[in-house]
Amino acid sequence: MGKIGLFYGSTSGVTEELAEKIQESIGEDICDLRSMEDDFDDVNDLLEYDYLLIGCSTWGAGELQNDWREPLFDMEIEKPDFSGKTIALFGPGDCEGHGKHFVGALGLLYDQFKAFGAKIVGEVPTDGYTFEKSTSIRDGKFVGLPLDEVNESDKTDERIENWLESLKEYFPIES
Ligand SMILES: Cc1cc2nc3c(=O)[nH]c(=O)nc-3n(C[C@H](O)[C@H](O)[C@H](O)COP(=O)(O)O)c2cc1C
Repeated sequence: MGKIGLFYGSTSGVTEELAEKIQESIGEDICDLRSMEDDFDDVNDLLEYDYLLIGCSTWGAGELQNDWREPLFDMEIEKPDFSGKTIALFGPGDCEGHGKHFVGALGLLYDQFKAFGAKIVGEVPTDGYTFEKSTSIRDGKFVGLPLDEVNESDKTDERIENWLESLKEYFPIES
């Protein structure tokens, strides 16, 4: 099985820390960590991998973190083929301060990568999350892993652990 590419965009460093934590859990030998700000030129960087973990925080009112905006816009023009790629999404938000748009970026990423043929896995039940509204729910579940370092950082480690466990079926994750 091929390597996993973990690409993340982070404005104040929260997603970056979470991405590092996830890479550490999976193992550096099988998971490359790539910052959208520093290690991304174009969509071919993503297409290098058959397995992708995509990290993106939510800004504005349910919008993408800045480093993902242009790449996703470019994809709409280039229409890359993600069929055969397996993708799982994660990202932090703020369920109290921004509870009306909780982790909206995940839904935007989901719609885009799915439209270009990717298999998206790693959905998460909404149980245990307190929020008002989210555009990142499909069929009653979050399309990826929501994290909240503002209000619920005590739940982060367990949430990541459970999520990675659920990904083992689809990703070359061993431990
Ligand atoms: C101006 C502003 C807007 C935000 N908008 C949202 C939002 O719409 N939904 C949400 O869940 N979180 C929102 N957040 C919370 C951030 O997503 C959260 O602080 C996250 O941890 C930032 O991660 P980063 O440092 O990796 O970018 C917002 C935060 C700020 C400061």
